[in-house]
Amino acid sequence: MSDAKLRLLSASEQQTRDVGEYLGRWLRRGDVVLLHGDLGAGKTTLVQGIARGLGVDDYVQSPTFSLVHEHEGYDGDGKPVRLYHLDLYRLSGETELDSFGFDDYLVPTDGISLIEWPERAVDRLPDRYLLVRLEHHGEDQRRLTIEGVPPDGTLRARLETLRGDLHGLVHAADRDDPVEEKPAQ
Ligand SMILES: Nc1ncnc2c1ncn2[C@@H]1O[C@H](COP(=O)(O)OP(=O)(O)O)[C@@H](O)[C@H]1O
Ligand SMILES: [Mg+2]
Repeated sequence: MSDAKLRLLSASEQQTRDVGEYLGRWLRRGDVVLLHGDLGAGKTTLVQGIARGLGVDDYVQSPTFSLVHEHEGYDGDGKPVRLYHLDLYRLSGETELDSFGFDDYLVPTDGISLIEWPERAVDRLPDRYLLVRLEHHGEDQRRLTIEGVPPDGTLRARLETLRGDLHGLVHAADRDDPVEEKPAQ
């Protein structure tokens, strides 16, 4: 039976970046990815991998002074894809979301939105998204859980392709020691 969630164990920063690179090639225009995890869990590292998978040339780091950074990448056919990288860690309140047009990033028709600290905008999240949770597991290991929300939506079938892509790249996390189930908040 296939699990609707993809659980992976990354052994290094490089592996997390490699997972991101596969993700970057797998994502499609219109996708919104919420990245959930503590400081240092590896959200930005994963974003850097995703950017690499999309052939983004710029150096990708967490937006410091602005909450959004935009990059230009390319899909498998060489057509441009916008990469919207949001980091809501420093969000001061809901009004600030409106100041930069947050809602538009939730329907990225010409690209892909990646959102760090989505829980800061809990009342404004979309109905459909890819949720990636990253959790510390020792100094250099991270547990990654990738799932589509809603769980029975269209992302589920696409996740099976991703499972195949990632097979062999990183260990599947041990099912007997499951990732603690936490609501996305
Ligand atoms: N397996 C791993 N995956 C990702 N980062 C790792 C891993 N092991 C160690 N690290 C370190 O953890 C930190 C992750 O930082 P970052 O990606 O900025 O996290 P976040 O954006 O979640 O705050 C980096 O210093 C990185 O070198
Ligand atoms: Mg970060």
